[in-house]
Amino acid sequence: MKESTWSPNKKREFRRVFDKVAYTAGAIFVKKQHMLLEHTPTCFVYIDLYSGDGGHPGGWGSPVIAIETLAAVYEKFALPYHIHLYEKETVDAKRLKIILGKALEHVPKGCSINLYVRDNDDVVNLQILDGAMGLVYADPYGGCEWAKVLLALSVDKKYEKIDMLVDLNPSSIKRNQGKNQKCTTCLIGTSLDNCINNIDKEFCKVREPDVGERHSIWQWALVFLSNNRTLFDTEWKKHRWYNMKDSPIRLQKLAKTNKELAGCG
Ligand SMILES: C[S@@+](CC[C@H](N)C(=O)[O-])C[C@H]1O[C@@H](n2cnc3c(N)ncnc32)[C@H](O)[C@@H]1O
Repeated sequence: MKESTWSPNKKREFRRVFDKVAYTAGAIFVKKQHMLLEHTPTCFVYIDLYSGDGGHPGGWGSPVIAIETLAAVYEKFALPYHIHLYEKETVDAKRLKIILGKALEHVPKGCSINLYVRDNDDVVNLQILDGAMGLVYADPYGGCEWAKVLLALSVDKKYEKIDMLVDLNPSSIKRNQGKNQKCTTCLIGTSLDNCINNIDKEFCKVREPDVGERHSIWQWALVFLSNNRTLFDTEWKKHRWYNMKDSPIRLQKLAKTNKELAGCG
């Protein structure tokens, strides 16, 4: 696997968030179905915008973890799932396909796993079912292109119950700002605050930043966005997830350039 930001903390937190979102969706599905309630979820949609090559034993990548978890949730709650994996590099996509192997062939009836070997900006054309719950995951190598994509999806009514998780690199965003460069691919602007605040979700949690692999100077922070209040129990704080506005000072600092911190930004 290429040099990545797949630190043990990130892997653990991705699993934690994915479990929370998927099992909550399963429980809601069963409850609403039994009570014949309106707005019963139709399915769970998982979209991986940066799928990678599948990882390796002991360090499986996000698509493998997602497929395993959704298969378990299906067993327990019979919640149908649709998985959409984007990977633009042919070599990585080929390896991912081999790693997924049988999982791609043995999908339960009414479920699907789709691998797209192309740029993820195509995701805005994806057809998804009304009433879907789910998660969109963005795990880029850096930059802020993901913000434009997440913004576009978040204002689409079909994504109202689909949560968003991004592993972002505040340092790279800040570095662009510091150099006073215009980000050529992100329409929103280059401040972390802007990138996040423009995404149309009611609640936002930020995990304490992590330093990347191999003593990299880059810091990485997971950000979770959702409209579902019931997801937010006390567990989040225990695992060092904070609200953007009342997070410890270093998280607030992450969102700003030195110029802004000095009061002239
Ligand atoms: C950090 S890795 C993803 C790791 C993966 N989430 C995992 O858990 O193993 C980023 C991947 O995104 C791919 N990628 C980068 N830009 C992309 C884009 N615009 N569309 C689709 N894939 C992209 C890269 O080729 C790379 O394989």
